[in-house]
Amino acid sequence: MCSMLAFLGPLAAMLLLQTAAGAVGRASYDYNVYHPFNEIDDWMSQILMDNPDMVSMERYGRTYQKRDINLIKIGERSGEMKKAIWMDCGIHAREWIAPAFCQYFIKQVLQEYRKGGKMVEMMKKLDFYVTPVLNVDGYVHSWLDNTTRLWRKSRSPGPPGCTCEGTDLNRNFNATWGTVGVSTNCCAETYGGTGPLSEPEAAAVTRYVGQRKEDFLCFLTIHSYGQLILVPYGNPNLTAPNYQELMTVGLGAADEMKKVHGKSYKVGTSPDILYPNSGSSRDWARLSGIPFSFTFELRDNGTFGFLLPQDQIQAACEEAYSGAMHIVRYVHSKQLNAAAAPAAAAASLWAALLATCVTAALAL
Ligand SMILES: *[C@@H]1O[C@H](CO)[C@@H](O)[C@H](O)[C@H]1NC(C)=O
Ligand SMILES: *[C@@H]1O[C@H](CO)[C@@H](O)[C@H](O)[C@H]1NC(C)=O
Ligand SMILES: *[C@@H]1O[C@H](CO)[C@@H](O)[C@H](O)[C@H]1NC(C)=O
Ligand SMILES: *[C@@H]1O[C@H](CO)[C@@H](O)[C@H](O)[C@H]1NC(C)=O
Ligand SMILES: [Zn+2]
Repeated sequence: MCSMLAFLGPLAAMLLLQTAAGAVGRASYDYNVYHPFNEIDDWMSQILMDNPDMVSMERYGRTYQKRDINLIKIGERSGEMKKAIWMDCGIHAREWIAPAFCQYFIKQVLQEYRKGGKMVEMMKKLDFYVTPVLNVDGYVHSWLDNTTRLWRKSRSPGPPGCTCEGTDLNRNFNATWGTVGVSTNCCAETYGGTGPLSEPEAAAVTRYVGQRKEDFLCFLTIHSYGQLILVPYGNPNLTAPNYQELMTVGLGAADEMKKVHGKSYKVGTSPDILYPNSGSSRDWARLSGIPFSFTFELRDNGTFGFLLPQDQIQAACEEAYSGAMHIVRYVHSKQLNAAAAPAAAAASLWAALLATCVTAALAL
């Protein structure tokens, strides 16, 4: 009896402690600090457990070092064929505010959905696919110690004869690959790899999004820093067919962002407001037919650069969220109009002609 109690006592205490830790962990995940990858990984599992009706997780690739690349899908289960919004964060390892934003974004979308209103409306037509950390190997490396904090690239070895590691994943996509704003020196920060999609991380995004590119209406890829919203293309010789519309939507997003905390975000193509580049995921998405493709460069504007202090995480996320949502709302209402068109088409010849125009405009 005594020995039994002696045995059960610590066990019960341990169970209690574990339960308490779990509950506390859930209630108070701190969105205002940067988290190492293992904590983000646990957070993803927790989000999944807390929202089984809305959230699922999918492993769509493996990094060079064989870590899983996971996305969180937020979507109402329904028989309807829905359109999709893509968001990825952390393709560049040192841009820690980006994964912090993806986590904030997921939390916020779920909270607003639970409150009802516009988000519920939107989620009848749209699912969100969010990758909190795309370049997992690089992100883990950037957490290793002070000397690796500013690591940008992936962690794959250079080509034979090269002692440097890592490829710039945002120069590795199959979009005018290797033409401009990219290095062939494997030690450079912008080394583009041995060929388009030589890196498993870039190949995973291409495969996943590419096989459903008719479903993805919007592709948002999150970086820091500079306070910019970049539209396609990085190669100055190319212009997106819907450049004007992309600019209008981007400028609308920047207006919304300024309203939140007064910070200005510039909008334009990369050659116009940053530098020319090639092989970016944003350009690949637009080239493969996804109409709304943007790069966000979050805070700040050079004062702290990649080392954005934690006390700015919340403000940075709040303004980025309102910018991203401006774009999502635009895409949603345009999609609703497109979905209404076939019904109208049945009504009259004029409506049918109009529907053709709408479809043609979307297919660009
Ligand atoms: C890393 O940098 C921080 C802040 O500069 C410092 O406090 C810490 O001791 C450094 N750690 C190592 C291992 O150098
Ligand atoms: C890149 O895209 C072109 C067409 O734009 C295609 O011919 C080529 O096979 C692609 N390369 C890879 C590696 O996917
Ligand atoms: C743009 O086109 C010009 C003329 O064909 C060419 O010389 C130049 O290399 C191109 N630039 C890029 C970045 O592809
Ligand atoms: C960046 O910061 C500088 C100095 O604070 C300011 O003058 C400039 O307007 C800022 N640029 C943007 C785009 O906010
Ligand atoms: Zn970046």
